[in-house]
Amino acid sequence: MDEMSKEILFPRAIIQKRVQELASQISDDYAGRELIIIGILKGAFIFMADLIRAMRIPCKVDFVRVASYGAGSESTGKVVMTKDIETSIRGRDILIVEDIVDTGLTLQYLVDWFKERNPHSLKVCAFLDKRKKRKVSFEADYVGFTIDDGFVVGYGLDFSEQYRFLPEIYVIKQ
Ligand code: IMP
Repeated sequence: MDEMSKEILFPRAIIQKRVQELASQISDDYAGRELIIIGILKGAFIFMADLIRAMRIPCKVDFVRVASYGAGSESTGKVVMTKDIETSIRGRDILIVEDIVDTGLTLQYLVDWFKERNPHSLKVCAFLDKRKKRKVSFEADYVGFTIDDGFVVGYGLDFSEQYRFLPEIYVIKQ
C-alpha cells in the first residue's frame, strides 16, 4: 500500500468528546421514542457504532449503500443505490447517519428516497460537513465538525478503500 502524506485533523479524544455531545443531544431530542438509525455504508459504520453506544435511548439499525464516488477523490455527481434498507420506516422516527456531507447530492437523494415511504420524522446526522463544494442546498440536522475543503480519511472514511481503520481523522496533503 502506498503511504500518502497526511496530517492529523481530529485526534481520538476530540472525536470521542464530540460524539458524546451529539449522542446526548440526540437522546434528549428523541427522549421516550425509539429511533431507527440508518447508516450509509461504508463510511458511516465506525461513527454510527460509537454514536449509538453513547446514546441513552433505544434504537434499531439498518444500512443503505450508495455509490457516488469513483476510485479516487472526485465525485462523479451521480448517486446510485446499491443496497436498500430491509426495515419498514412508515410512521417511524428515522435518523440517517453519514460520515461526511460534501456536494450534498448523496443525502438529498436519500432524504427524497426515504420521504416517499412516509416516516413520522426524518433527520440527518453527519460526522463531518465540508461546505465549500455543495451543489445543492442541503443542511444536516446534527453535525460533528465543519471542515475546510480538504480530502479527509480515517474513522471510517477512505481514499480508494484505504485508511478506514484509522481511529483519528487525517487530511491528505497534496
Ligand atoms: P456528496 O454526495 O458529494 O455529499 O458525497 C458524500 C460522500 O462522498 C461521502 O459519503 C463520502 O463517501 C464521500 N466523500 C466526500 N468527501 C470525502 C472526503 O473528504 N473523504 C472521504 N470520502 C469523502
